[in-house]
Amino acid sequence: MNTIEIKDKRFSISISSEEIQKEVTRVASEINRDFAGKNPLFLSVLNGAFMFTADLMKKITIPCEVSFVKLASYQGVTSTGMIKEVIGINEDISDRVIIIIEDIVDTGFTMQRLLESLGTRGPREIHIASLLLKPDKLQVDLNVEYVAMRIPNDFIVGYGLDYDGFGRNYPDIYTIVTE
Ligand code: IMP
Ligand code: MG
Repeated sequence: MNTIEIKDKRFSISISSEEIQKEVTRVASEINRDFAGKNPLFLSVLNGAFMFTADLMKKITIPCEVSFVKLASYQGVTSTGMIKEVIGINEDISDRVIIIIEDIVDTGFTMQRLLESLGTRGPREIHIASLLLKPDKLQVDLNVEYVAMRIPNDFIVGYGLDYDGFGRNYPDIYTIVTE
């Protein structure tokens, strides 16, 4: 499938599943190298990171744990109007080495919020592994140490990422077609 339609939008294939798998394997070997003996706890951010997490974890060969968190948005009384609360952390993360698994870092505000929230729970270290990074959109000072692929600013779907809830199921990544 070279193009797909989701609701009112058309998307064309931009990163094949083979290419994704190759980069996921590279990230996994970097993590295996850097975290040997550290018993990291991977925290996967639902929903978007589910596919990346499954493929990445199959290639992690060091002792580790994996768990899942979600960011619940609700209207708050901040300047931006939106507050994101981290839900689903059942583990004691104090003194743990944490590796966050995200689908995409865009402006970076979501990741910044997650780091703030996890930081209050006393982890020893927090590292970030993101499938995708849009370097030109990043607006906060973040060290995204593990990145499978850097992409332009265009909106994408597939391999866990959605447009209005749809499109997460595709094994490839598609970019929006703007007419
Ligand atoms: P940020 O807070 O701007 O970094 O946005 C991060 C979140 O926005 C991601 O976790 C995604 O859920 C969503 N997002 C950003 N860019 C895209 C995209 O191109 N396609 C689908 N979702 C995206
Ligand atoms: Mg996400």
